[in-house]
Amino acid sequence: MNPATYDSIVKPLTVNDLAAMKLRGEKISCLTAYDASFSALIDKVGVDMMLVGDSLGMVIQGHDTTLPATINDMVYHTRCVSNARRRAFIIADLPFMSYTTPAAAAKNAAKLMQIGGVQMVKLEGPRVEIVSFLVDQGIPVCGHLGLLPQCINQLGSYKVQGKEPADAAKIIADAHQLQQAGAGLLVLECVPAVLAREISAQLGIPVIGIGAGVDCDGQVLVLYDMLDIGIGKRPRFSRNFMQDAASIEAAIHAYHQAVKQSQFPSAEHSF
Ligand code: KIV
Repeated sequence: MNPATYDSIVKPLTVNDLAAMKLRGEKISCLTAYDASFSALIDKVGVDMMLVGDSLGMVIQGHDTTLPATINDMVYHTRCVSNARRRAFIIADLPFMSYTTPAAAAKNAAKLMQIGGVQMVKLEGPRVEIVSFLVDQGIPVCGHLGLLPQCINQLGSYKVQGKEPADAAKIIADAHQLQQAGAGLLVLECVPAVLAREISAQLGIPVIGIGAGVDCDGQVLVLYDMLDIGIGKRPRFSRNFMQDAASIEAAIHAYHQAVKQSQFPSAEHSF
């Protein structure tokens, strides 16, 4: 097809498209992205979603945690990603302390949508009141449960969450509450695969896992981890897709295919 024709008919995926993918059992692929060049490449490969994660505080800015990433950093990188996107659904993180009240959350989410150009914002934890308020303002929200990197100073380390029955039950209950509050997606980070499978089966909204086993409705990885160019140690749940790839595009394609065919994550990359 003529590239100009392709450009004119390709439309960005919507939250309804993602919900339909869950219904028909099609896995949703997602990678983090922080700039226009990678955004264009990820989009060209056909990855369904891009997350402008506050992980940029670590992989772009070189901090030890995600906490120093500010709303202005997030807006800047989100705009860079949006500028080059054609099809992929774009989500951005509300960074640490940017959603302490419903009004602050709405003001910062509006910046990500109006200036950054995202279709949905993500926030960490069972912040049901904030999610409900944002949804009432017409702002689509993705929840994030399990390991919450913005709480690293309370957690002490990046460890698997929900291993004890009571903790698992709390995560399940929180997931239902977020769905009831109107969240359109849920990210589950670093939880046992059996727990993620249960939550994915119980919820109507798509559940995107990272270190949460193969039975989630989709998968996300930090781009620099799967390309093995991160400055820190690659997390156990990530895989080096560059290992057998001739180019970055081929590595991203291999990840996308592995997610679509439920070949990633394997047991080795799950808990
Ligand atoms: O910031 C980020 O990249 C994330 C993913 C790890 C899910 O939130």
